[in-house]
Amino acid sequence: MKNFISVSDVSDINALVKKALEYKADPFKDKALGANKRIGLLFLNPSLRTRLSTQVAAQQLGMEAIVFNVDKEGWALEFEEGAIMNGTTVEHVKDAAPVLGKYFDILCIRTFPSLKNREEDYSEMYISQFIKYAGVPVISLESATLHPLQSLTDIITIKEYLLNSPLRAGGKPKIVLTWAPHIKPLPQCVSNSFAEWINAWGEADFVITHPEGYELAEKFTKGATITHDQDEALKDADFVYVKNWSAYNDYGKMHSSDTSWMLTNDKLQQTNNAKVMHCLPVRRNVELSDEILDGPNSLVTQEASNRVWAAQAVISTLLTSPK
Ligand code: CP
Repeated sequence: MKNFISVSDVSDINALVKKALEYKADPFKDKALGANKRIGLLFLNPSLRTRLSTQVAAQQLGMEAIVFNVDKEGWALEFEEGAIMNGTTVEHVKDAAPVLGKYFDILCIRTFPSLKNREEDYSEMYISQFIKYAGVPVISLESATLHPLQSLTDIITIKEYLLNSPLRAGGKPKIVLTWAPHIKPLPQCVSNSFAEWINAWGEADFVITHPEGYELAEKFTKGATITHDQDEALKDADFVYVKNWSAYNDYGKMHSSDTSWMLTNDKLQQTNNAKVMHCLPVRRNVELSDEILDGPNSLVTQEASNRVWAAQAVISTLLTSPK
């Protein structure tokens, strides 16, 4: 593994999941692996789970972790090649990234999309420019279109649940990704990423459900069954992954905030007593009801706690990969 930006960087998902669960069982077993090494966590946007779980993971591998809130504390960065920098940007990524690459053995970056210009967001210019100029491995802490640490965590959580509570009938679990209402347009990253990871994993019957107008990019969803009928999708589901996203086609727009799409205990009756997942943060009683989040079917806290093991498996893989 050279970088960790998308599922394409992973040669064997199940091996990475196994590695993560081994760290969960014995967090400090590779405490010497990162000795005398430093990891830099650069945030151009806010975070709670990603920031702290990645720091914890790095420290459990013996690394020193340094967080830099670029958006608040750094110079305003320019990413465009050949830019005439007579506006608000002060430093080009071409100059900043190689310097950061000298300070750190691994660089991690969070950069959200603008949701204004689809071509620009989907080109992943910000994270690509860091990879081009840093000269050290780069881990995505959520980019314009993907959130791979979250998706790896989601598969870890599903596998962990299935290891402890195998499905009665055996066979593949039915996993449903459902759109949920929200008060403002959100990126498609978590949903794109969940879709590409579940499709690449290949060990589930995968259904995506959303109102008309919320189709995700086909390159991520190809292989999944897609329906606008949430009730039909939920039938016999084993896992329901809840997430809001804004439109991909009418880019960044909200077509509907139809509150009837919020998951409730009544809706859960149609499922196979499905476990409910969400990446957090979640707007209670808008995206997901209190009764689900506080009820026995919610996996959200376990899922968020598993972020540590996902990050630890990825950092350790990068530390041991040939340069
Ligand atoms: N799920 C997730 O990435 O959480 P944060 O935005 O708090 O890091």
